[in-house]
Amino acid sequence: MSIAVYPGSFDPITNGHLDIIKRASKIFSKVIVAVLINRDKKGFFSIEERKELIEEAIRGLDNVEVVSFNGLLVDFMKEKEARIIIKGLRNSTDFEYEHQMALMNKKLNENVETLHMSTNPEYSYISSSAIRQIVSFGGEIKEFVPVNVEVAIKNKMKN
Ligand code: COA
Repeated sequence: MSIAVYPGSFDPITNGHLDIIKRASKIFSKVIVAVLINRDKKGFFSIEERKELIEEAIRGLDNVEVVSFNGLLVDFMKEKEARIIIKGLRNSTDFEYEHQMALMNKKLNENVETLHMSTNPEYSYISSSAIRQIVSFGGEIKEFVPVNVEVAIKNKMKN
């Protein structure tokens, strides 16, 4: 069975992430969406909230599961007996960052391979922080995120 892990902070999940998940689910027998902690980022949604939002957004994709993990990605890969990491690439800035991370993960565990998938151009300018910023100034995010995320982020901003 080919298992792919799609890691990220997903704070929150966007249509760009969802596009990668759907495409990966057609290639691999199982896709694990791993909600991990990037210590350089201050969280907006809790890890549990992010996980629930992803679970709702991927409903109907039977070979996709969502798991949260507090630790190194390579340790998560080992725990799940998975070898393939999927990462989306939106532009050359992503490439620089992702390339470095792929090399580091390879160094930490030589059995792990990172595969980069080009983001659908329709979503190449979306990021989670841009979504949060647009909502905070009262802007519209309908076309960038799943409906459940739109509702959740607006509610959280209100509080
Ligand atoms: N569509 C839309 N947006 C996308 C996207 C896509 N296809 N792919 C990435 N993005 C955006 C995200 O929304 C995020 O936006 P933000 O910066 O505004 O929050 C940004 O690109 C970064 O994406 P993400 O994949 O979440 O990267 P990250 O740097 O936040 O998280 C981890 C990367 C969590 C996978 C990484 O930090 C990690 O592995 N952590 C665990 C600890 C570890 O092993 N560290 C060593 C790694 S060498």
